[in-house]
Amino acid sequence: MSKDEIPRVDLERRGKIALLTLASPPVNALSIALRTALMARLGEALADRAISALVVTGAGSAFVAGADIREFGKPYPPGAPTTADLAQALEAAPKPVVAAINGVAAGGGLELALGCHARLAAPKARIGLPEVKLGIVPGAGGTQRLPRLIGVEPALDLILSGELVRAEKALALGIVDAVESGDLIAAAVAMAEHLAAEGKPLRRTSALEDRLAAARAKPDLFAAYRKDWTRRARGQEAPQAAIEAVEAGLSLSFTDAMARERAIFERRLTSPQSKALRHVFFAEREVAKVPDIAPSVATIPIRRAGVVGCGTMGGGIAMNFANAGIPVSVLETDRAILEKGLAIVAKNYAATVAKGRLSQAEMEKRLALIEGTVSYDDLAQSDIVVEAVFEEMGAKKKVFEALDRVVKPGAILATNTSTLDIDAIAAFTKRPESVIGTHFFSPANVMRLMENVRGKRSAPEVVATVMALSKTLGKIGVLSGVCDGFIGNRMLYAYWRQANALLLEGALPQDVDQAIYAFGFPMGPFATNDLTGLDISWRVRQRHIAEGKGPFPEYAVADALVARQRLGQKTGAGFYKYAAGDRTPILDPEVEELIRDASAAAGIQRRKIAPEEIVERCLYPLVNEGAKILDEGIAARAGDIDIVWINGYGFPAYRGGPMFYAGQIGLATVLRVMEALHARFGDLLKPAPLLVRLAREGKGFGDLS
Ligand code: CAA
Ligand code: NAI
Repeated sequence: MSKDEIPRVDLERRGKIALLTLASPPVNALSIALRTALMARLGEALADRAISALVVTGAGSAFVAGADIREFGKPYPPGAPTTADLAQALEAAPKPVVAAINGVAAGGGLELALGCHARLAAPKARIGLPEVKLGIVPGAGGTQRLPRLIGVEPALDLILSGELVRAEKALALGIVDAVESGDLIAAAVAMAEHLAAEGKPLRRTSALEDRLAAARAKPDLFAAYRKDWTRRARGQEAPQAAIEAVEAGLSLSFTDAMARERAIFERRLTSPQSKALRHVFFAEREVAKVPDIAPSVATIPIRRAGVVGCGTMGGGIAMNFANAGIPVSVLETDRAILEKGLAIVAKNYAATVAKGRLSQAEMEKRLALIEGTVSYDDLAQSDIVVEAVFEEMGAKKKVFEALDRVVKPGAILATNTSTLDIDAIAAFTKRPESVIGTHFFSPANVMRLMENVRGKRSAPEVVATVMALSKTLGKIGVLSGVCDGFIGNRMLYAYWRQANALLLEGALPQDVDQAIYAFGFPMGPFATNDLTGLDISWRVRQRHIAEGKGPFPEYAVADALVARQRLGQKTGAGFYKYAAGDRTPILDPEVEELIRDASAAAGIQRRKIAPEEIVERCLYPLVNEGAKILDEGIAARAGDIDIVWINGYGFPAYRGGPMFYAGQIGLATVLRVMEALHARFGDLLKPAPLLVRLAREGKGFGDLS
């Protein structure tokens, strides 16, 4: 199927059975055109006396991936059927309708299937209602039919998680009647023939009542779900709205409950959270596309990998390759360090097995793919080598010169550096076109983000390969140009600098952390800094000072803490105190005293700072830096920056990432605040030219792409 095909529904006769195949590449999303076609074909099949039953399926690899998200919020032609209308029409059909779920049945896709009288799934099918992930609720009967089919609690669990479950799990839950590993269509046709011949009353999901009884007997059920999901999806409105819709199904008639679901769905559709999450959905898919590299550029096959350094990052990076089934050799300076590093890898896997998330056999398979070595010769045949040694140019030079000598031509030489100049590293080799940055985030085996840093001379196929590799490793790769801190950390510096300045002006670490937490980050900047180590950020500052980018008077408190060897969690104290073996921050009067002294020493009269000001002060400079990054071409699109911040730094996805969030606030507002900050605090907070231009033109960052 080509992507440009016009959405259509094919009607094929198999004896007395009509096979309706939805075809709208790539995933049969239910656009207005496809829905209209399905309604027409359904009418045709029902009117045809020679047809006794129907089978509905999807062309290509998907059944139906749900509503066409691109059409959300667009004008709706009068008379076009909604997915709810279709599910209703399928269910009300006087002839049996069987869903043959050949692949993904998500959202409206599952809702269509729930309207059918029986469901068969292929083993590879993935089934669920992911709407909450888009900030909405199922709007075509999902919150009503699913509880009637499988019970309220299992339905709520599926709807609230938004996860797609595999066919076997769907069978166990009772969503599908059978999993067919042979010819799915033949089996569905046979089932349709059987139902037609049997002539029994059809099983209409909306008429099932008995599964609701268990929930009716539990008066506290919904309160418990509300409480649980307030915690699990902090700040998010959609899960609560979904609970409201499901609950309505217990007290209202099916028709009234459907109307309630629709009203909740429509309210959610226009909410800022849904707009933000839809932006994230598309940004996540767009990020893989590199504007100046054609999709036809061939990638280098990655069959073997190498990693240099088996420390915090190297071990995790090696796990990523093994998890993807790629054999990997890990090089260390000596056997003892190597064994220690590999023991940590084994311990990490064992912890996953203990949690029941990995089988023992799978763990052993993965461990067998990781081979330790102290000889560069064992890296020679690698298709990619990722360097993860100490963050020092001297160390990088030694490694890259060695790799250049040993590793086969055409292989990719990647560095995990978080701050050093990729072009300078590339210059240590005679093949700078093969050198690129692959900046994994810590813990590397867990964090989804990979900032792929393109050097001035990185070859297109090297860039394309690394972007594709991110996907193979189950990561989300964002391409960055070379600059200090790349996309993420460069913006982080701007943010943390203001957070630290706020301490001198009157806030305490807990005030800032609480305001940022309430905004939706999992942690505020000081708790985060305690986690990552105050010495690490101190070292970056020292380098910046050496490069003439200092001084940094805002960091007076952080510097004083480092001078007292309060380096964060690892020393039991930083901006907060920690009890041994416990990561819970404890307020420390010593820090408060130190902060007050620092304010006095800087001649600053402390003042009360409101949470709203803290958020603006931390986040608008972050956006401002993002605008510079965009203007300089370091990031290709504003959405790429959003993806970095959501996946690498915990920016709440339901706010769409910093650049999208700025657009929702209004760039004119952001500019006004930045201008005020500039006037008060000087050039450090000067509005970025791109922000000024877009704000004046009444545009957003998204208008650039
Ligand atoms: N609408 C529009 N486009 C969609 C789409 C959808 N529902 N689902 C996927 N696409 C597009 C993607 O944007 C992508 O396009 P490009 O190639 O142009 O980037 C293409 O289809 C392929 O998608 P993926 O790259 O994500 O492919 P995948 O194989 O990794 O994943 C998938 C396939 C599991 C279906 C995944 O795309 C997905 O989760 N899609 C969204 C499913 C969803 O949220 N559905 C619910 C919609 S809301 C609803 O249904 C409510 C209602 O009816 C009332
Ligand atoms: P680490 O200190 O934990 O590990 C480095 C390892 O490299 C050590 O085990 C060391 O023995 C080994 N090593 C040093 N020289 C070597 C050589 N010539 N040959 C082979 N092995 C050698 O350091 P970490 O934290 O893993 O950092 C590695 C790189 O990743 C650095 O560039 C760092 O900036 C970057 N990074 C670190 C992150 C973090 O959170 N720790 C996050 C993102 C990037």
